[in-house]
Amino acid sequence: MLSFDVVIVGAGAAGLFCAGAAGQRGLRVLLLDHSEKVAEKVRISGGGRANFTNRDIDVRQPHKHFISANPNFCRSALSRYTPQDFIALVQQHGIAFHEKHKGQLFCDHSAADLIDMLLAGCATGGVTRWQPCAVRSIAFLPDTQREKVEVCYQLMTDQGVIGARSVVMATGGLSIPAIGASDFGHRVAAQFGLRVVPPRPGLVPLTFDGAAWAPYADLAGLSLPVLISTGEKKHRITFAEDLLFTHRGLSGPAVLQMSSYWQPGTPIQINLAPEIDLPAQLADAKRRSRKLLVNELAQWVPARLAEAWVAQDPDWQRPVAECSDKALARLAERLSRWELVPTGTEGYKKAEVTLGGVDTRDLSSQTMESTQPGLYFIGEVVDVTGWLGGYNFQWAWASAQACAQALPLSTAPAVESAPLRLSTVPSKL
Ligand code: FDA
Repeated sequence: MLSFDVVIVGAGAAGLFCAGAAGQRGLRVLLLDHSEKVAEKVRISGGGRANFTNRDIDVRQPHKHFISANPNFCRSALSRYTPQDFIALVQQHGIAFHEKHKGQLFCDHSAADLIDMLLAGCATGGVTRWQPCAVRSIAFLPDTQREKVEVCYQLMTDQGVIGARSVVMATGGLSIPAIGASDFGHRVAAQFGLRVVPPRPGLVPLTFDGAAWAPYADLAGLSLPVLISTGEKKHRITFAEDLLFTHRGLSGPAVLQMSSYWQPGTPIQINLAPEIDLPAQLADAKRRSRKLLVNELAQWVPARLAEAWVAQDPDWQRPVAECSDKALARLAERLSRWELVPTGTEGYKKAEVTLGGVDTRDLSSQTMESTQPGLYFIGEVVDVTGWLGGYNFQWAWASAQACAQALPLSTAPAVESAPLRLSTVPSKL
């Protein structure tokens, strides 16, 4: 049986990075992926320029930018492999980049530069790569069935049976199934008795009931800066970002960020004119202006939005000087505290990430090894989800690095005291 020190399943951001780093430590690495191409999500990320990290990551307070049942879990890996470490690597490879917004770093040219860098790391580490190659089953071998002491796992793949001392699951989340996403990592976790926090789409556009959305449907394509909030009391969270109207609802960075915190059935609140004191401006306009209210409003919000807004109330369809104080107050209140209840999200087809995943209670934050010895989970398959803005890639690099540095070399003693868990990958969770 062909055997390796480690088989890494998933040649995305985390899998490629881990494979290169482990290979460069001298491990014999097999990296396999059921897709034909590597790192498709890296390729399409950041509009094709990959927002590959974020300078603002606060490793002492990971809960500020990462969502997890245990937000402190990611602290160890993130503090041992920082954005500066990845930036240094990118610079070493001569990849030009720029900062766009709130610490977000993008390639100047193309995300393909980053993929080339990851592949170069694998080549330096002598990584064997098989693609497309699916894994049909993973078995943990009892001592008596091991041909070699280092071979703890047996994988049935499209290209034959493989032995490995360690297995790393880097199969990512469920979003964008069209480019290879699957729940395989979650099912392998379940096979070995690990807990999985129920997955759901994150960083995802929100949708609204057709009839209720009709007044805003013509605004599709309109973008404006807003303040957006969800949650109550200490769970309340607010983002200051751009909002985008779509045909079915709302998107843009403001909504994507907030969607990861939104609970189905609960309202969201949006301030559509966060930069001005609307009641004061309207009162002033009433004193000095002879214009229609809609034209006054168009100074502070986009004209299309002003038109759609005043169309909702006859009291607003007149010169501002003729509007009652009550009508103006109502307008200011509705624009600065627009409350609405989404019917749902655009789902995994449009989500950038998957919330939930392999439960961190069953993983070591130092090594990413699970309670099943020799089985590791890295990247998005783990219940660690970052904000929009390069946080998810930084988690992929940091968790991959923590794992790569911890993987045992073949000269180290094999895992002997592992509990036996002989079972098959369940077809469903
Ligand atoms: P990733 O998804 O990268 O890789 C998983 C790999 O596993 C894939 O190659 C897949 O084919 C393979 N696989 C799955 N099932 C398998 C199976 N059964 N057998 C074998 N192989 C299997 N983040 C960020 O920080 N900055 C950004 O700019 C963006 N932009 C962005 C845009 C879009 C459109 C999306 C969808 C996502 C982003 N992200 C992002 C998120 C980011 O892409 C994501 O968090 C990382 O790619 C996660 O890295 P992983 O390696 O964990 O999974």
